[in-house]
Amino acid sequence: MCPLDRIGQNMQEELRQLERRAKEELRAVKDLAALEQFRIKYLGKKGLLTSFMKRLGSLSPEERPQVGKLANSVKQGLTSLFSETKKKLQEEEESARRSLVDITLPGRRPLRGHLHPITLIATRVCEIFKNMGFRIAKGPDVELDYYNFEALNIPKDHPARDMQDTFYISERVVLRTHTSPIQIRVMESQRPPVAIIAPGKVYRRDSDVSHTPMFHQVEGLLVDRGVSFSDLKGTLISFVHQMFGPETGVRFRPSFFPFTEPSAEVDIRCVICEGKGCRTCSETGWLEILGAGMVDPAVFGFVDYDPEQYSGFAFGMGIERIAMLKYGIDDIQLFYRNDMRFLRQFE
Ligand code: DAH
Repeated sequence: MCPLDRIGQNMQEELRQLERRAKEELRAVKDLAALEQFRIKYLGKKGLLTSFMKRLGSLSPEERPQVGKLANSVKQGLTSLFSETKKKLQEEEESARRSLVDITLPGRRPLRGHLHPITLIATRVCEIFKNMGFRIAKGPDVELDYYNFEALNIPKDHPARDMQDTFYISERVVLRTHTSPIQIRVMESQRPPVAIIAPGKVYRRDSDVSHTPMFHQVEGLLVDRGVSFSDLKGTLISFVHQMFGPETGVRFRPSFFPFTEPSAEVDIRCVICEGKGCRTCSETGWLEILGAGMVDPAVFGFVDYDPEQYSGFAFGMGIERIAMLKYGIDDIQLFYRNDMRFLRQFE
């Protein structure tokens, strides 16, 4: 046997070993990523089998066809084994995906958000007053005792300052108990004419079916020369008619607030029983919706407005209360439970 024969036989032996190793490795392949590694290693452009083919040129013309034929059949065999394995793995991965997701189920619609009923009502109240020429004003939730009480003519020993009702941050700082301090801040910062509407959160130590420790109010203030109680009446009656409908009955009842003189509370005809008398209106036929009055000259004193030149009116209302009456809700806590069955009704 000439030396070339031995080279040829060695190469055939090498080829068989290569084939055996490749088949073994292919059996161990468990996913498509590993299969791709296999393809690169054996069948790729720089793969073992391809490099082997390139060496066929070094064989004698007699041996080349024989080894070449064997090499081709090994390559074909491995290639078709590779394709079979690929098909099998693809099917396996596809059925694994299918068992996780039922693609025949209808799609899920994403939830669409909407405004909270309290936001809806506060926005509507402000809009009505904006249309009458009032501008929106804001003030801080954490407020100085001075603005929340003192400058509103609520003296040190007034029951409204009681620890029972007010959240105190320190002796001088409180969580505002009403939106009225915004009146003082606005008047401090500008001269008349003033016409503002101020929505915001307020805080009181109270919790039952008609009270929550945080609730919302809207404050109104108008100051100019010659403002009278009839301006206040006209403005508020127009508001009630826009908010609850043009037929709604309105009455002004004498009342008392330290920062207004004279003061009134405004009632509307009961929206539930239309005045016949029911549980909601405690059989009176009327529902209280806001407090109001002519700005007390003592308050003007704190902001350096001359009460001889200027007069004004103010009012404040609870948004939760308006919302409860408008939507017929009997438990204030519902607004803050985040129960979607409740909230969805305001979409
Ligand atoms: N601040 C009062 C309260 O929280 C409501 C109020 C009454 C506001 C009369 C006013 C007003 O501006 O004039 O009960």
